[in-house]
Amino acid sequence: MKLLITGICGFVGSTLVRAIREAHPDWDLVGIDNFCRVGSELNRPLIEKTLGIEFHRGDIRHPSDLETLPKCDFVIDAAANPTVLAGVDGKTSTRQLVEHNLGGTINLLEYCKTHGAGFILLSTSRVYSIAALTQFPVEVVHSADTSSPLGTSIDRYEPADPATFPLGLSLAGATEDLSTAPPASLYGTTKTTSEYLALEYGAMSGFPVWINRCSVMGGAGQFAHPAQGIFGFWIHAFREGRPLKYIGFDGLGHQVRDGFHPRDLLPLLEQQIAEPLDTRKARITNLGGGRDQSASLAELTAWCRARFPESATRIPLPEGPPPVRAFDLPWFVMDNTRAREQWAWEPGTTLADLCEEIARFAEAHPEWLSVTG
Ligand SMILES: NC(=O)c1ccc[n+]([C@@H]2O[C@H](COP(=O)([O-])OP(=O)(O)OC[C@H]3O[C@@H](n4cnc5c(N)ncnc54)[C@H](O)[C@@H]3O)[C@@H](O)[C@H]2O)c1
Repeated sequence: MKLLITGICGFVGSTLVRAIREAHPDWDLVGIDNFCRVGSELNRPLIEKTLGIEFHRGDIRHPSDLETLPKCDFVIDAAANPTVLAGVDGKTSTRQLVEHNLGGTINLLEYCKTHGAGFILLSTSRVYSIAALTQFPVEVVHSADTSSPLGTSIDRYEPADPATFPLGLSLAGATEDLSTAPPASLYGTTKTTSEYLALEYGAMSGFPVWINRCSVMGGAGQFAHPAQGIFGFWIHAFREGRPLKYIGFDGLGHQVRDGFHPRDLLPLLEQQIAEPLDTRKARITNLGGGRDQSASLAELTAWCRARFPESATRIPLPEGPPPVRAFDLPWFVMDNTRAREQWAWEPGTTLADLCEEIARFAEAHPEWLSVTG
């Protein structure tokens, strides 16, 4: 088996290839990255020297950078600008975002067509429509018992009336049937468009395509940023004693997200790679921590306070109703039913273990936020 991993020096790419190397020492691995993510170049020695992977410095936006890549059996696409604020935060232009996330995918699909390689897209939960995810009311739920997934007391939003859920949403979370109608964020819509094109190319040219819509991923070594990798950002900031604030809604951090570890993707990818081309399995799968591996920011804060009791981090109470940004969602978890039924997939790492892994990494790398944040 010969795999091409794009964005190999990123958080997910580098985590995944470590797991692949360990489980399949006989597989040939090839990687490409252009180091546009601050901090990604720190992973180059790991990829080239420690893991001995054939590395190409190149940009998937440029077809000529793909011409020298060897023929591979499958492409795992983990190269993207992965934040909902991309294109609107003044740091990346909208055109650049589309070039990386959509133009890059098209070039990879051309590569797959030329070489007959399969294609696995790491897509995102952010493909789902913001209108669908904000149209139902939520209420604050408090409980003193420490039964949250992080072992803290419960302090979070929960849907107030499931009867108001849109099609594709339930108390178990978002299924693949939830609307992807724009707006969903330019990031999300570049991924939806990539999904469509990938499925079309695969059907037209006869190569397998799998779309994995991932919720928040986290773990050691993530390039933490408030708009992407919230678990990592929050834990690193707490360890450093940096000031933090809750943005949006009631300003008390009740918004909920689920999370999982990217190494847990491997058992799924192994099956997708081995699946026959004429399979009847659905091509699109939601992956997340689900309701059982979710946390509100307030619960994450409580976990951080217990984990770093000396931290000087203070979170001020809001002085008035905080502004709600267009992409903020009050309660968003993924429903893993299809992943479980079709692939017997469950996240193997609990959210508590994932956070502990980040905390240990943060202690070992006290400079991490300023280097990569
Ligand atoms: N981390 C998450 O929470 C999460 C959630 C859902 C989906 N995803 C998807 O997983 C993939 C990987 O995300 P990540 O968290 O590792 O992000 P990351 O920023 O850590 O890694 C992305 C890597 O891709 C590289 N890259 C970007 N544009 C490139 C280009 N044009 N050519 C070559 N290399 C390029 C970057 O330098 C970086 O090393 C992305 O496609 C993202 O959309 C991530």
